[in-house]
Amino acid sequence: MRAVDVIARKRDGEELTAEEIEWLVRGSVSGDVADYQLSAWLMAVYLKGMSPSETIALTRAMASSGRILDLGELAPRAVDKHSSGGVGDKISLVAGPIAAAAGVIVPKMSGRGLGFTGGTLDKLESIPGLRVGLSIGEILEQARNVGLVIASQTADLAPADGKLYALRDVTATVGSLPLIVSSILSKKLAGGAPSIVLDVKAGTGAFMKTAGEAEQLARALVDVGSACGRRVIALVSAMDQPLGKAVGNAVEVDEAVETLRGRGPDDVRELALTIAAEMVQCAGLAETEAKARDLAREALTSGRALAKLRAMVEAQGGDTSVIDDPSRLPRAPIREMVRSPVGGFIARLDAGVVGTTLTALGAGREKKGDPIDHRIGAIFHRKVGDRVEVDEPLFELHLARPEQTSFARERLLQAYHWSQEPVDHPNVVIGRFAQRRDP
Ligand code: URA
Repeated sequence: MRAVDVIARKRDGEELTAEEIEWLVRGSVSGDVADYQLSAWLMAVYLKGMSPSETIALTRAMASSGRILDLGELAPRAVDKHSSGGVGDKISLVAGPIAAAAGVIVPKMSGRGLGFTGGTLDKLESIPGLRVGLSIGEILEQARNVGLVIASQTADLAPADGKLYALRDVTATVGSLPLIVSSILSKKLAGGAPSIVLDVKAGTGAFMKTAGEAEQLARALVDVGSACGRRVIALVSAMDQPLGKAVGNAVEVDEAVETLRGRGPDDVRELALTIAAEMVQCAGLAETEAKARDLAREALTSGRALAKLRAMVEAQGGDTSVIDDPSRLPRAPIREMVRSPVGGFIARLDAGVVGTTLTALGAGREKKGDPIDHRIGAIFHRKVGDRVEVDEPLFELHLARPEQTSFARERLLQAYHWSQEPVDHPNVVIGRFAQRRDP
């Protein structure tokens, strides 16, 4: 087989065979197919798309490009969770412990933040001493002993995704539906859990800007994941404004802990309970949605979910005193409350503007490998649908240096839009997709 022929066939809009796709993916990892040819092929896929069977073949080939985790006796109760990425998304730190406290085994591999979206690993690393770089042996042992692991993707799982994603990043080919589907699912297939609950974000603070685009991605993830033999549930959730009040790293861990104590924001609690209940049902621990929801709620209100997070932090070498007292998390030296210049109802709080601003301030990274400052963030006290009077607190800045203040204040004020008419509080969960039943 020659790469140039496979590229030409895709360029001309032809359907590739599973053998051609497998050959190309193998060549991407072995180095037999050159980066410039892979890049040309990615652009051809971006422009011509892929049929469902090509996407399934690509997902399988990428998952099989490395090791596939064998969860052994843990598999029947193991459920993975993944978010397509958003602003203020600390849901894994809440839903994971709730599901685990209800009896689900959660062996979760997470990513780092890139661009305007945050990453669970960066948030977790706000906890002094906590290790996310676990070996496969450590992941399996902790899954068995604690039931909850959040670690980084190990290099031997789906290595083709690492290779292809790095090329997509620099060739303007990230935003292709079949490439996104195969990238997300190949890592989840390699993670070994038989069930996967996906949270596809829709809005200005997400890859998918509209509910329609997010629904298309959710549907494709369910169809391809099911064809690869996994049970996949995909929720679509709102990302036009940040999730919860806190955006940053240490401030989001603080908010996750508060939510596990029963004091967090309503949208974080609602989405976390919905996702945890889906995980409980996937694990076969409840027959009905209502029963799964009751188990998730009980795991939260009893404090067992908080205890589960503490056990995970301890197992991964982190300082558990921050779970009992989140004020021990790294604190920003500069705190400033910004007050509302206008009275009225909040009509919009643009998550995209919030994400890019906080990234520019150092809470996130613009390119892979950039350092981040875990202390930087903001707390949004007023969100869409809330009424605010002139001069009432709007948001609080957590910054490293005084000279960041005016940039942060001006940019984040631009994220807000006010209305003189009442505005509804938006729903956080806006769609749910599961495998279609045969007629
Ligand atoms: N998340 C991924 O893991 N891969 C993509 O391509 C996009 C989002």
